[in-house]
Amino acid sequence: MITKILKINNDSLTEAASLIHKGELVAFVTETVYGLGANAFNQEAVAKIFEAKLRPSDNPLIVHISDLAMLDVIAEQISSVAVKIIEKFFPSSLTVVLKKKNVIPNIVTANLNTVAVRMPANKDALSFINKCGVPIAAPSANTSTRPSPTRAIDVYNDLNGRIPLILDGGDCSVGIESTVLDLSCDVPIILRKGMISADDISHVIGCEVKYLDANSSKVNSPGLRHKHYAPSCPLTVVSGSLPLALDKYKQMCETGFRPVILTPAQYIDYFYCCQCVSLGATEDEIAHNLFAIIRDVESLYNNIIVYYPDINECSGIADRLLRASGGNVI
Ligand code: TXA
Ligand code: MG
Repeated sequence: MITKILKINNDSLTEAASLIHKGELVAFVTETVYGLGANAFNQEAVAKIFEAKLRPSDNPLIVHISDLAMLDVIAEQISSVAVKIIEKFFPSSLTVVLKKKNVIPNIVTANLNTVAVRMPANKDALSFINKCGVPIAAPSANTSTRPSPTRAIDVYNDLNGRIPLILDGGDCSVGIESTVLDLSCDVPIILRKGMISADDISHVIGCEVKYLDANSSKVNSPGLRHKHYAPSCPLTVVSGSLPLALDKYKQMCETGFRPVILTPAQYIDYFYCCQCVSLGATEDEIAHNLFAIIRDVESLYNNIIVYYPDINECSGIADRLLRASGGNVI
């Protein structure tokens, strides 16, 4: 299969919508990461997502909508708290988990009785969904286990030959995936961290919002069990003191590796004698750059050391780095 990359305009949107109606896949930009979309009502089309990405079938997909009328078609028992949150945060990088209606095939939700729903804020994403006229089931458009794609070329590098079309809407502004908030039970709970935090949500509803306890035996979000965001070479996070990072770098050089240090802009001067790349100066910049930099450096170096001493442990950035390292934190 030939994979086309088309800039978003009226013609490419028409072509994309026609592919979706034929049960094919289209990768499209959102403000978080690129998504790999199929008609959420068509189970054969959705099955192609799992095939193209090599995604385990027990990992449910997010359904993307472009207006609230679509929400009522796919979800039910929406509580007053959920309504408040949706009114405030749609469209944005917040995904909410609600009780599902039967129109959503079980393959989308991995047989759960809930459905994850997001209305992206990116205008091109909304135009694409709107043009298709159906909710779009879409995971991140990477091969399973790889870092998520934040540029059309990242999607191409992972899925070339496996999908017919990538709608190129430029770089994703946020850069890490949405916050996933479970609103299907009495207490709202964050299943996946993103740039919208528990505090942002609790300000709106006036009560505390908790993060899923990583050690809990009840894992509400099956995707959390799987390996994620792994670059093609080892990645170590150094959250301790500077000498630890310098020692690790030296040790890697001495054992024949080509290591690189990734670090927030304020620490870059500590590494003047090392190969080093700045992740950015603010949390927003770092989230925006994170996956793109990991994808860029993995082809030039063969060992990645991330020096991030003051990392906010509750942040989406910390979560992605922890998973990218496979728990390799010193
Ligand atoms: O920003 C994003 O969320 C991107 C863009 C494309 O929208 N999508 C994305 O999808 O990151 P994916 O498939 O890579 O991650 C979806 C996450 C997984 O952790 C999955 O377990 C969780 O959402 N999820 C989906 N449906 C769920 C459900 N019914 N209950 C609990 N968790 C669910
Ligand atoms: Mg993903």
